[in-house]
Amino acid sequence: MAERTRVAIVGAGPAGLLLSHLLDEAGIESIVIDSRTREQIETTIRAGILEQGTVEVLTETGASERVNTIGDKHSGIYLGFDDELHHIDFGALVGRNVWLYPQHEVLVDLIAARLAAGQDLRFGVTAERVEDAETERPRVVVRDAEGRESVIEADVVVGADGSRSVVKKAVTGSHGGFFHECPFAWFGILTEAPPSKDELIYSNSPDGFALISQRSPEVQRMYFQCDPETDPSSYSEAQLWDELQRRTPATELKEGPIFQRDVLKFRSFVAHRMQAGRAVIVGDAAHTVPPTGAKGMNLAVADVVLLDRAIRDLLLRGDATHFESFTDEALRRTWKAQQFSWWMTSMLHQQPGASDFERHRQIAELRTVTDSEAGRRYLAEAYTGWPLLGR
Ligand code: DHB
Repeated sequence: MAERTRVAIVGAGPAGLLLSHLLDEAGIESIVIDSRTREQIETTIRAGILEQGTVEVLTETGASERVNTIGDKHSGIYLGFDDELHHIDFGALVGRNVWLYPQHEVLVDLIAARLAAGQDLRFGVTAERVEDAETERPRVVVRDAEGRESVIEADVVVGADGSRSVVKKAVTGSHGGFFHECPFAWFGILTEAPPSKDELIYSNSPDGFALISQRSPEVQRMYFQCDPETDPSSYSEAQLWDELQRRTPATELKEGPIFQRDVLKFRSFVAHRMQAGRAVIVGDAAHTVPPTGAKGMNLAVADVVLLDRAIRDLLLRGDATHFESFTDEALRRTWKAQQFSWWMTSMLHQQPGASDFERHRQIAELRTVTDSEAGRRYLAEAYTGWPLLGR
């Protein structure tokens, strides 16, 4: 016997939870499953920057109040190169801002809001496969923590289940997607220290890129460019501070104990399509962007805002127009985000074996941005986020 719901959502990350929240506003019932525990979801440290449009969706729909109180509005960033910092003032350039509010806090808020609203939200439940995606009754075969198999039948199945998505297989089939790899990675640390600067620093140095980000008044997140094969335990704390400080010569970093370290690989992926029949993929299941520029979670939110409209039209009004155009509309923004992240990456990192010519050209590219209001505005517009379609 299969259970029935209107929308079966695989994955309780930002995309899956927000989708259930928006659908509920329209009276559309859903079941959300995730193979992880609630604690795992709420404590894994991920991205940190929310576009203004993302914050508007979260606050206007009552999904997160705390982004206004705990979140920190940032009205710009610093680009560091040639031993100097150059401020890009988003507020003055485009009248928009970003918020520093860690992804796991967004998840704490969303889970609380969904449970308070009576959402059917199941942790420790794994999707095994999607069946009958081409029909109007797609099904997800799931396995609970005790190993029992069951079936959820729905009008639409949504894969918000990350880069190792199970739903993706039913959507892309043999079509797959487009891939791009960069020859470097980021070494990330969390440190117990005060912020080194009021806003984030993206620094290009002869020794490679560094990003000085934040998590709270007491905890800071920092990254530096490294070889993808780097073993995170191979550096002492003193060596880590030396790497970070050498790459941000214009700023004296405030040091503290380093309590987490990880190496993030740079992979870009865009699925050829984001839907097949009544199965749809969103967020990291459909695309991965390099971290530079902080587009990942914001893209997931943009997908969900579009998909919410498409599903409402389909299920409440029998109008499939937006559902059918979902892939085209979502991929248009995805490719713009790929382009922005690739541009920020290429402008700020040292390619292994880059020539002196390339190094001078790169500094000139950065100057072309910082010396010109049009250049700064281009960066500000993309960083703070393009208008959200679908609301
Ligand atoms: C963070 C990550 C990013 O990729 C970025 O561009 C800005 C901030 C972060 O983790 O804080």
